[in-house]
Amino acid sequence: MKSVCLPVLAAYMGVGVQSFATRPAIKTNYASSCSFALHASSDNGMTREPLTGMRETIAVKPSKTFLGVDMNRYNIGFEKSIEQWSADVHVPSSFMDEGIYLGARDKKSFFADIVTVDISRSPNPNGGLGLELLEIAGGRSDGIGITVIENIAQGGNAEASIIGGGSNTILPGDSIVALQLLSDDDSKLPLGEAVVVECLDYDGTVAGIQQIPSDWKNIRLTLKRLRRKPKVVVKLQYPPDQGEEDITLELFAGENLRRAMLTRGVKLNDKFSRRFDSGGTGDCGAEGTCATCVVSVTRGEDLLNKQSIQEQQILVKNPRWRLACRAVVGYGNQEGELTLKVNPRQW
Ligand code: FES
Repeated sequence: MKSVCLPVLAAYMGVGVQSFATRPAIKTNYASSCSFALHASSDNGMTREPLTGMRETIAVKPSKTFLGVDMNRYNIGFEKSIEQWSADVHVPSSFMDEGIYLGARDKKSFFADIVTVDISRSPNPNGGLGLELLEIAGGRSDGIGITVIENIAQGGNAEASIIGGGSNTILPGDSIVALQLLSDDDSKLPLGEAVVVECLDYDGTVAGIQQIPSDWKNIRLTLKRLRRKPKVVVKLQYPPDQGEEDITLELFAGENLRRAMLTRGVKLNDKFSRRFDSGGTGDCGAEGTCATCVVSVTRGEDLLNKQSIQEQQILVKNPRWRLACRAVVGYGNQEGELTLKVNPRQW
């Protein structure tokens, strides 16, 4: 994947909050002045007229929260979010369509997560979504920009829909990337295509919102929310006769353990290991067959991904050992502390 910042937007983002736009920031308490470009069709329910700068699809990949981690603990707040939003041009790849996507400027420390929120107009049938929008980058002739939610209007439909919090939250600093009609019944099934408004300026975002009929009851918003990456503190201990000091590293969740250690200059090469495939020696280069990268986990094993069948077979006599090249820290976006013994055959 190649990612480059749009020159104009990057210039806005590079000089701080006060200098985002070459024109005054545009705000609105978005009301119900909706047009009716969305209309029923004979086959799939709904169609829409295209908007300039809109994509037909959206890459929706929420963070994995299967271990019950509350991702909101990694939120960074409004001010930090508007400092960090960036519009990135992506070339086509096997996992992402060509297009312009919202992301973090500092991709090492932050990431754009996906959040979906269902809003009902039941509290105010004639009202709008009840969101105040703020353009933080724009002024381009092609309509590309960055527009975020600045506030959730008191008494509006959005506020009423997110009462109770939980996962159904909207936060200042979030950016709307798509809107989807939901059926009026309890099933709330998605109808038709989503209207994608990612990386549009204020006018383009509002035009996209206006494609939702003003009397439509249930609407699903897909938002991008900037979060800091969870961190794992890794304490490395060496065999006593090596005379090496313990080392403490701070890794981001999702980092491969072996690669993270090597790039930080940490020694990791068990000379007594034998290759699982040939019985010889030598580094397999992270193919999971040589075990030169083996470490013993003495604390925090739940912070690592589960072992594959092959890794279990290789390490069957040492269930606390892991192949560092097969281990990913911060499994399920967890934070915590991990203690590892390097070169465990030499302890
Ligand atoms: S580098 Fe060979 S098993 Fe990890």
